[in-house]
Amino acid sequence: MNETIVRVDTTSRSYDVHVGRGLLESAGPVCSQAVVGRVAAIISDSNVAPLYAHAVCQSLEASGFETTVLTFPAGERNKRFATLESLLEGLAQAELSRDDVVIALGGGITGDMGGLAAALYLRGIHVVQIPTSLLAMVDSSVGGKTAVDLPQGKNLAGAFFQPSAVIADIDCLSTLSHELFTDSCGEVIKHGVLADPALFDELGASPINAEGYPPDELVRIVARNIQIKRDVVNADETERGLRQTLNLGHTLGHAIEAASEYRLGHGSSVAAGLCCIARASAKKGWCSQDTAKRIVEVTEAFGLPTDTNVDHETILSYACHDKKRHAGTVNAIIPCEIGRVEIRKLTIDELASLIELGCGTSDKQA
Ligand code: GLY
Repeated sequence: MNETIVRVDTTSRSYDVHVGRGLLESAGPVCSQAVVGRVAAIISDSNVAPLYAHAVCQSLEASGFETTVLTFPAGERNKRFATLESLLEGLAQAELSRDDVVIALGGGITGDMGGLAAALYLRGIHVVQIPTSLLAMVDSSVGGKTAVDLPQGKNLAGAFFQPSAVIADIDCLSTLSHELFTDSCGEVIKHGVLADPALFDELGASPINAEGYPPDELVRIVARNIQIKRDVVNADETERGLRQTLNLGHTLGHAIEAASEYRLGHGSSVAAGLCCIARASAKKGWCSQDTAKRIVEVTEAFGLPTDTNVDHETILSYACHDKKRHAGTVNAIIPCEIGRVEIRKLTIDELASLIELGCGTSDKQA
């Protein structure tokens, strides 16, 4: 079995991220190592539970766990307190103790809600993340961000709560649609721009996809993405400083995503936001024209959007409501060169000027 283990060492908890093929079968042994309890509640949505909950339960039961499956209806509109409340009631009904474990099996929504349910139940029990989407594998399952949405915006209520282990089984990507796989690649490209010129070049030469891309290569690329995120999260678990750099592409990306009423996927929105901030940065002289051009070219090679047709006022208004706004300023993450970014504290006027320079200024607008 081709398995890579990435060790995460945050201030609050250390844990292993297992990346490889056929790893659902190792859910039981991994959970046995991570927790002392013998009750496991699998939280999953109505799309993923029918595909993978059985295999995870079998493995857990073979390791002596009593299992229960709590399913909620798939979709971002269900990432709400009402769903969280019914999940918490399910954990209480299954009588999980502090020694037991929640398994969050699914994509980013499941990971965020399963993680938050674990953080709240009995003031915190173990959670093991089993991401089944590329986005969840390379980003949301690692680092302990958990949340639900509020009517006022995405992820507005949550907690930092690290998992006790993460299992990323690449074979689960085979059931992901082409669109969702491609969408996730927005975060993969972001990691290359953030920290790894070699990964960025590799992505440009050979865009990854779910159809026929060698699985062992996917294992390597997913593991590399997790290492990049791990290095940031180890240094700054709660986003006081360096972790903000993971928001590269997100200030404008979140605004583009919200303005589309979430019809444009998160990774696609981040990709468009990344290209917009890169174009603006080049015009400001903060990065070279060549850097911006390469970011746009690689994004385009994946079939992801490289611009937006949302009007500038709307982008500014959403960007200013973003939770990353600090008392009248916004911390924007600026690409300086491939593999290096910086955090710039911008006034609202400065942000407006970047939007003017970078958004809707190419001939390809999402
Ligand atoms: N997705 C960005 C972070 O985890 O900080």
